Amino acid sequence: MEQLLQQIEDIKNEITAAEAANAAALEEFRIKYLGTKGLVKQIMGEMKNVPNEQKKEFGQILNAFKIVAEEKFAALQAGLGDSAETDTGMDFSLPGDPTPVGTRHPLNLVRNQMVSIFKRLGFAVAEGPEIEDDWHNFGAMNLPEDHPARDMQDTFYVEEKTADHSAWLLRTHTSSTQARVMESQKPPIRVICPGRVYRNETISARAHCFFHQVEGLYIDENVSFADLKQTLYFFVQEMFGKEVKVRFRPSYFPFTEPSAEMDISCQICAGKGCNICKHTGWVEILGSGMVHPKVLENFGIDPEKYTGFAFGMGVERIAQLKYQVNDLRLYSQNDVRFLQQFKSV
Ligand code: PHE
Repeated sequence: MEQLLQQIEDIKNEITAAEAANAAALEEFRIKYLGTKGLVKQIMGEMKNVPNEQKKEFGQILNAFKIVAEEKFAALQAGLGDSAETDTGMDFSLPGDPTPVGTRHPLNLVRNQMVSIFKRLGFAVAEGPEIEDDWHNFGAMNLPEDHPARDMQDTFYVEEKTADHSAWLLRTHTSSTQARVMESQKPPIRVICPGRVYRNETISARAHCFFHQVEGLYIDENVSFADLKQTLYFFVQEMFGKEVKVRFRPSYFPFTEPSAEMDISCQICAGKGCNICKHTGWVEILGSGMVHPKVLENFGIDPEKYTGFAFGMGVERIAQLKYQVNDLRLYSQNDVRFLQQFKSV
């Protein structure tokens, strides 16, 4: 016991005399006296060897000892002040290296906005393969072989048609995904199909060999053209604001009857006339129509009982109107000066 008390006294003296010129020395002090294997812990471990009647007194001495060590540490630390950091060889006041933060691609931003608007109306998202067979891309959509409307969408074929399989191709529209949904689900069906599509076009400011679509399909009992109009009107108001005007023009698609294209008032010039709207004040943004009875029949859906509407639009076109991008090629060139402009969008 005597010996132990002497030891405590010696260590205390040592502690009182200790100095720390820098952070490394301070850390050394902490490890030596206050660390998990430090002297304070070690001495405390001696408690078990102290006779019971002396435990109380020894406990108090130990506590005082511990406080001396802790207070000394605090004093040394305070003494070092800010220089504690510089002495480690690091200057914490230097500005950090900026972390390069990427940005979401504008097409993703717009696609997500489009999807979220339709989700609010109860549409589910469906995705399908980009390499398709002839049936899902064309045949099922009421575009039999030799149908002249196939020329509307110049197709990249991956493989020639043979006797035992229909041709493989890069899908020209995400209507192919709608075909897959009708194949596997029963009405009511309410889906949107976002995705990349391919067409054999010469690349220019206005055309590209691939682009992105969001197509939609709604099949149920009593679905009418009024539902189609209201759905799309809601969409453009959410996308472009309440001021936007719309107009429907009769059109033709093999998979819808009747068919219509929808124009909105030009978002670039507010209808006054510019290059984008070719000075008409209107820009076409989508194709739509009531699902052709033949298409429903192709999937065993009774056209007497069910009706539906479908629509399809290009994400690039919506993004162009929203962000005034007038060259389609910018979307795929990955020029960071272009992409970074969408940082705060
Ligand atoms: N699939 C058509 C296209 O890609 C768009 C569309 C979809 C038109 C649905 C009408 C109905 O051009």
